[in-house]
Amino acid sequence: MADNKKRILTGDRPTGRLHLGHYVGSIQHRVRLQHEYECIFIIADLHTLTTKPERENVDTIADNSREMVADYLACGIDPSVSRVYLQSAIPEVYELNLLFENLVTVPRLQRLPSLKEMARDARLNEMPFGLLGYPILQSADILLPRAHLVPVGKDNEAHVELTRELARRFNYLYGETFPVPDVLVRGGTLVGTDGQAKMSKSLGNAIMLSDDAKTVEKKVRGMFTDPKRVRADIPGTVEGNPVFIYHQMFNSDTTEVEELAERYRQGKVGDVEVKERLAAALNRFLDPIRERREEVVNSTGLVDEIIYEGTLAMREDAKQTLAAVRKAVGLSGAWNRISRAAEKRRKKQEKSGTPVS
Ligand code: TRP
Repeated sequence: MADNKKRILTGDRPTGRLHLGHYVGSIQHRVRLQHEYECIFIIADLHTLTTKPERENVDTIADNSREMVADYLACGIDPSVSRVYLQSAIPEVYELNLLFENLVTVPRLQRLPSLKEMARDARLNEMPFGLLGYPILQSADILLPRAHLVPVGKDNEAHVELTRELARRFNYLYGETFPVPDVLVRGGTLVGTDGQAKMSKSLGNAIMLSDDAKTVEKKVRGMFTDPKRVRADIPGTVEGNPVFIYHQMFNSDTTEVEELAERYRQGKVGDVEVKERLAAALNRFLDPIRERREEVVNSTGLVDEIIYEGTLAMREDAKQTLAAVRKAVGLSGAWNRISRAAEKRRKKQEKSGTPVS
């Protein structure tokens, strides 16, 4: 990895296989950015504990991480230039998190709408302490490898703003230690197959990157489209119609898309045909991804090796940062003085053979 490049830190909670919404919202950008920046992708498993601390969830982390990283690689994340690591296997992140907790006020965190939303989505009546601290832990992730740039979705923008404040506050209190990272808000969420604002596995409106051709056809057939159009000869609406949004996004045959849109507006094409062509286009788009995924999954242990190597490399970075952090904060000074005095006393005792008072 060339060290003259600026560093990116971003990533996801391990929820398993990824869908087209993930591709549009983040993965495609990462694939592009990885050649321009040194990219580090976090598997943020500790963040899943903020809403799901139960053992059943913890036990899904390994397999969910593998599925997710298989999708990364299938989409073109290149492990020879990018790193992927498992957050919970980095002891220093817990430590940095605690130090950062003292640099933020509770009202500052309570003002973040994203945390309230997460609590609501998880059906929690009261805010867990850890969930309130979600953006602090995220800041520890970002500042641990001293990242310069953080590409995230709109919902995470305020978290990175908090990271910037934390970096500045830390530097002010203890001396210049962290770069203040920039946020890069990536555009575009993808509508679900049901027309809902966001594609999401839990809403059941997602097309997974690993869905086979038949599944894609079936899901596209059931897609929400212009509801006013009960017959094929009624002029239809293209704008905001999920079937056409997907066509524009994934169908590389732009002439076909324009033709279909024109005929749709004039009531000269049925939804069945438009959907059949969409399914075909999506399958053309997904074929190489599925092929690569197959190769990745068939190389036994490859995904694990990539996560393993990435995590070991991250541990080295983390050690270096925490050495600098401990020195800056001054906590190592307290322990050094106490332990040195205690060792001195021990040696004295050993020499004389009797306890000194
Ligand atoms: N908060 C991110 C999400 O919505 C996951 C995450 C954890 C993250 N730590 C991060 C993203 C650091 C960017 C940088 O799933």
